This record gives sequence, C-alpha cells and structure tokens, in this order.
Amino acid sequence: MSEVEVWWAGIGQAREEFLADLNVVEQERYARYRRDADKARFLLGVTLVRRLLGERMSVPPASVVLDRRCPDCGKPHGKVRAEGVELSVSHSGDWVGLAIGTAPVGLDVERIDSVQEVDGVAGMSLAPEELQELKRYDGIDKARAFTRYWTRKEALVKATGAGLGTALWTVVVSAPDQPPAVVSWDGGPAQLSDLEIDADHRAALAVLSAEPITVVVDQFRV
Ligand SMILES: CC(C)(COP(=O)(O)OP(=O)(O)OC[C@H]1O[C@@H](n2cnc3c(N)ncnc32)[C@H](O)[C@@H]1OP(=O)(O)O)[C@@H](O)C(=O)NCCC(=O)NCCS
Ligand SMILES: [Zn+2]
Repeated sequence: MSEVEVWWAGIGQAREEFLADLNVVEQERYARYRRDADKARFLLGVTLVRRLLGERMSVPPASVVLDRRCPDCGKPHGKVRAEGVELSVSHSGDWVGLAIGTAPVGLDVERIDSVQEVDGVAGMSLAPEELQELKRYDGIDKARAFTRYWTRKEALVKATGAGLGTALWTVVVSAPDQPPAVVSWDGGPAQLSDLEIDADHRAALAVLSAEPITVVVDQFRV
C-alpha cells in the first residue's frame, strides 16, 4: 500500500516573506504575473513544494533543488520535479494544492465557473459519450458536472507530465455522478480519486500505479 499526501493552502495564506525562498527564475516568474491572485497562487505553490520537501529532507526550503524543465521547449514552466519523489501542483480560485507520492501523481483543482459557456469547451475536451452524459445537466449543474469531468481528466494528463499536450477528449473517465474511474486512455495503469474542497471548487487526484493507495489530505499551516 503506498501513500499519497495532498496538502491544501488557501489563497489568503500567501505572505510576502515566502518570496525569500524562491530562486531567481521563480522570482522572475512571480514578478511577471500581473494579478495579485495569480501571484499569490504561484507563490503558494512554490512555497508548498519548498517547505514540505525541505522538512522531509531536513534542508532549508530555499535549498530544495527543483526541476521544471518543459519536455517540449526546455523552458522552466513544466511539471515540477524533485529527486526521490513524485509531485503535482495545482491552483485555481481560492485554493492551491500539492500532491506528493512515490508513483507519478497528477492533481487538479478548478473553481466552478458559473458564467462560462460550458458547451464550447466541453466540445473540445470531452469524448462523445461524455458529451452525451453532460446533456443531462443544465445551468450551474452543468458547470459542476463539466468541472468534475475536467478535473478527473486533467489530473490524469498532469500525472504523465504531458498536461494539455494530450488532447483531453482522448481520455475517458466515469460520469460525474459516478465514482471516479478511468474508462479508457493509453497511459497505462491509473487510479482516480475526487477530493472534496468546498462548494465552489472541484478537485481530483490521479496516481499512475496499479498498487492500492491511500490518500492523506491535510491543510498547510504556516
Ligand atoms: C500545465 C497545465 C496542465 C496547467 O493547467 P491549469 O489548470 O491552468 O493549472 P494548474 O494550476 O492545475 O497547474 C499548474 C501547475 O502544473 C504544473 N505543470 C506545468 N506543466 C505541467 C505538465 N506538462 N504536466 C503536469 N504538470 C504541469 C506546474 O507545477 C504548474 O504550477 P506552477 O508552474 O505554478 O508550479 C496546462 O497549462 C498544460 O498542460 N500546459 C502544457 C501543455 C503544453 O502546451 N506544453 C508545451 C509548452 S511549450
Ligand atoms: Zn514548454
């Protein structure tokens, strides 16, 4: 039985003092975000990784060596990696999350966007049977159901490190009102879990392993 830890931080937990632990590349990226909320979410994501791994390795957060190299272009905007662990960061709306495992993990949190026109984006990201299922829903219930689909599918493609480089419609998952499960994809053995956060957000965790796993969820405390 292997364990996956999931840590959540609320956007209000961001503090300017966390900036001191970021490396130069991370500080530059922080500076490039225009909106305060984007800055806060990015800063918290890096802080979760650096503080929690620093604690495990008994080193200061700033000394944790991270690799964000994008496999496509080499720029430091890819999946965050560190020696000896598997990681996945996600941020949306009020929440920032980090999953830490021994097998590859993918975490996705999304705020339910009640004004978004779901049909357009669903057409590009859902498989035919998923689109058919979504027709059962209207209004905010449709946005909720779509967000459940999206987080389950994005968690899987984040686990592989391909991210949205994998077309989401090629990844088929169980219906939003059914227990989370992979229906079909070509990424090998994988497990899906839904994570409950609050009424305005949906979140899912994917683990690329056939081994039974336990998921331990905690709140990040500064
Ligand atoms: C990364 C991606 C999954 C982000 O999705 P999102 O819902 O907007 O954002 P999330 O908050 O859930 O995830 C962002 C985090 O995922 C991680 N991430 C970045 N690229 C990733 C990838 N390919 N696979 C898995 N995780 C990735 C990062 O840790 C990032 O947070 P950080 O940069 O603050 O550390 C999506 O934008 C994507 O797949 N992009 C890459 C696809 C692509 O075109 N790659 C080629 C670029 S040259
Ligand atoms: Zn890239």
